[in-house]
Amino acid sequence: MRIFTGNAHPKLGNAICNHLSIDPGRCEVGHFADGESKVRILDDVRGLDVFIVQSTCPPVNEALMELLVMVDALRRASAKRITAVVPYFGYARQDRKHEGRVPITAKLTANLITAAGVDRIVCVDLHAAQIQGFFDIPLDHLYGSPVIKSYLKDKEYEDAVVVSPDVGSMKMAHGYAKALGYGLAVVEKRRLTDMDVEAGYVIGDLKNKDVVLVDDMISTAGSMASAIAIARDNGAKSVTVCATHGLFVGPAYDRLLQAKPDEIVVTDTVPLPPAPEGLNVTVLSVAKLLAEAIMRIHHNKSLSLLFV
Ligand code: R5P
Repeated sequence: MRIFTGNAHPKLGNAICNHLSIDPGRCEVGHFADGESKVRILDDVRGLDVFIVQSTCPPVNEALMELLVMVDALRRASAKRITAVVPYFGYARQDRKHEGRVPITAKLTANLITAAGVDRIVCVDLHAAQIQGFFDIPLDHLYGSPVIKSYLKDKEYEDAVVVSPDVGSMKMAHGYAKALGYGLAVVEKRRLTDMDVEAGYVIGDLKNKDVVLVDDMISTAGSMASAIAIARDNGAKSVTVCATHGLFVGPAYDRLLQAKPDEIVVTDTVPLPPAPEGLNVTVLSVAKLLAEAIMRIHHNKSLSLLFV
């Protein structure tokens, strides 16, 4: 077995290797003078079970192309099986035609990864679970929630309620509420543009509660910032924000500084841009979860116990 990592998130790749007590596979991943991706695998991989850890996170096109080129190199070097470990799967929000003459880029991305020669794929918290069906190869869909839930378990909230910042994350919020024994509420949100949302009202009682907002990702933080404001307006005692993927792009940190959550909890599926002073950000690692998944895939063992 060999585990390689591209440039998207080498820290996570190395942490996974640490958990498995193996050295990362040696490769050169860079650019030609004109910017094209340049890859050279330095280890012999003939007949081996190979894993590539590469989140397709911002800059998404760069990370995706690097992944495709690495797969091609490994395929041509006669790897027996190639598994793409993509903790954050970019383009996932373009998963349907919501208006005329727009692409379904999540499907295109799945096609590209498969055509490059990937045999199976591992993802964490796909934006929409149906994206699994965009792949005609086995896909293992893991969740960041076991990692976040075990962190929340140690909190001494007096009266906590899990709040979904929109209807789409309701199922995830329900899972947290059930596992932790918290109440459940939802914010009604409308998306105006890719950068802006408008949060309307809240269904549920937040007065004097410790509010735990959960979502799959924080991108520009429009959704979370407006949900925090609504929680405060409805009398929340404290507001903790949890998300598996902390992208924090564009105005995200400014919006969160203004919204002032008590704590932001994310995992390390993507590398975090340095947080400004004034934001209390906790980063939990999914390295152990992914290491266990890789080991189980390698030994053809079930992954179900990783889902709780
Ligand atoms: C939306 O459906 C997702 O679950 C997230 O709420 C959203 O993508 C987060 O984006 P932003 O942080 O830009 O509001």
